[in-house]
Amino acid sequence: MASITSGNDKQYADSRKLAARARLNSEHTIAELGWFPWVAQQLPLKSGDRILDVGCGPGWFWAATAASLSGNLNLTLCDLSPGMVAEAVERCTPLPLGSITGRQADAAALPFADGSFDAVVAMHMFYHLPEPARCAAEMHRVLKPGGFLAVTTNGIGNMRKIYGLTTVFGGSPYDPAGAAFGYEAAQQLMQTQFGNVAMAQYPARMRVTDPEDIFLTLTSYPPGEGANEAQLSELRSAIADAFQAGRGVLETEKETALFISRKAA
Ligand SMILES: C[S@@+](CC[C@H](N)C(=O)[O-])C[C@H]1O[C@@H](n2cnc3c(N)ncnc32)[C@H](O)[C@@H]1O
Repeated sequence: MASITSGNDKQYADSRKLAARARLNSEHTIAELGWFPWVAQQLPLKSGDRILDVGCGPGWFWAATAASLSGNLNLTLCDLSPGMVAEAVERCTPLPLGSITGRQADAAALPFADGSFDAVVAMHMFYHLPEPARCAAEMHRVLKPGGFLAVTTNGIGNMRKIYGLTTVFGGSPYDPAGAAFGYEAAQQLMQTQFGNVAMAQYPARMRVTDPEDIFLTLTSYPPGEGANEAQLSELRSAIADAFQAGRGVLETEKETALFISRKAA
């Protein structure tokens, strides 16, 4: 079945569909720190590092965290979608980060020499990959000895009560990203490729106060994206019932984590 993990060319031609999902998370997450600042705090980056961001998307991570990072980084923004690379470069170039380069490329065949980077980050993108092991091997290859790979993904229990609503149009009641490449898959893949992996779960939960943000998220990717009028109206009713049961709010768990592996020195 078509899902968030397929149809990348349509899904990521630009950042509009991703923005609906990002809004649900940014507006309704209860946490001490926002997701991107929390990730930045965990990354062992140093001044002068050469960093490769694979599946960089629109570059939102760097825009949200530049002020807290060293201003002396050499950042390469890489994505399969040329539209995303262009948007990320435009957004990141004015930031006080150091040097910015953009490169359209597939994670399965990174166009960089062995040992080029101190750090590779691959945030919320592994669940799109048909051959995750091949991509992890590529990321390992382009890292310098002693460099690190940082991967983020969702757990299968992420926003369970929200994904449960998609059954009205034949969706499965799980976070599709967590189902395709969840915590166990990330740990296994990185342990196999690097011989080590450390996991940190983002301490947060969801408290959604606007039903429309759920509707826009669940219809931003297939099968919700292609649902017919009757299915969409069923979805609206299911969302309304869930909010009524929660007296105007929908509370659910958040499962999102960061995994870091080091290449042997
Ligand atoms: C959910 S977005 C994540 C964007 C960004 N990393 C973030 O966390 O905000 C996934 C990104 O992975 C990119 N992508 C998908 N398959 C890819 C591949 N094979 N190689 C490189 N990038 C890919 C998509 O184009 C999209 O921009």
